[in-house]
Amino acid sequence: MSAKVITISLQKGGVGKSTTTGILAYLMAQEGFKVLVVDMDSQGNVSDLLLQFDDIEDINGSTIIQAFEVGNIKPFIHKTDHPNIDVVPADDFLATLARLLYTDSLYRNENANIALHNLLEPIKDGYDYILIDTPPSLGEATANSLVASDYVIVLAEGSKWAFTAIKRFLGTVDHAKVVRGHEIDVMGILRTMTDSRRSDMKAYVEVIGEQYSELIFDTIIKRKAATGRISIEGLFNNPEIKDALDQYYKFYAEVKQRLGVTVNG
Ligand SMILES: Nc1ncnc2c1ncn2[C@@H]1O[C@H](COP(=O)(O)OP(=O)(O)O)[C@@H](O)[C@H]1O
Ligand SMILES: [Mg+2]
Repeated sequence: MSAKVITISLQKGGVGKSTTTGILAYLMAQEGFKVLVVDMDSQGNVSDLLLQFDDIEDINGSTIIQAFEVGNIKPFIHKTDHPNIDVVPADDFLATLARLLYTDSLYRNENANIALHNLLEPIKDGYDYILIDTPPSLGEATANSLVASDYVIVLAEGSKWAFTAIKRFLGTVDHAKVVRGHEIDVMGILRTMTDSRRSDMKAYVEVIGEQYSELIFDTIIKRKAATGRISIEGLFNNPEIKDALDQYYKFYAEVKQRLGVTVNG
């Protein structure tokens, strides 16, 4: 097998990127797919979601930034409590990525934004999917994630600032295609965090749907307490997991359809 790389992104915080990355990994893993999650956000939220550490210091010195430093990602792959999910975690030190890429002799002779792609290439045989969670900015971490991707899932809540971010985000994907010299498929736009009591959110959900009718997923993820509590309870020993994930099954079905995956049963 050679993993398909999927980045979950938008340069806006709080749209559900880390939550969706974790849930998608879980749904894929439950169907028997081998999944590696790469955390490219120095906040380390999806790392915490999957590893449930008491203290972020627990992973200190064994994260994605060290993989960039030594030019090898393998020693920094952590097992999780799910047999089909591994993770390369991130912590605050990932904030030094740009400096590393522009000054380290390892990267001097290549485009700084192809480094993650090169790190992932040798481990793709071990996974069906590699999911990359990204920070709320269009800096080096996101650029590297996009260049490494075969597919990109854009997340957007129903807000003006998410709506206006989408256009600039899609422009950045176009730049990434040039660096990679390869097609990067924008799989779709997932509308998230919708609060039915807010007419302004509903209006922007509709605006995004009209403006990007070719790209949107039909599924719209609503704000729901059980889904938010995944950040506390995790995914693997969560007594309300069914309730937390129910809205995501339809989304996952759409993802599989767009990936051209057929699963029996
Ligand atoms: N569908 C949802 N309903 C309620 N809360 C959610 C939902 N999705 C995410 N959250 C919560 O909202 C916050 C932002 O989500 P997060 O996944 O961290 O977004 P991002 O990674 O884009 O910043 C987190 O506290 C998370 O637990
Ligand atoms: Mg996040």
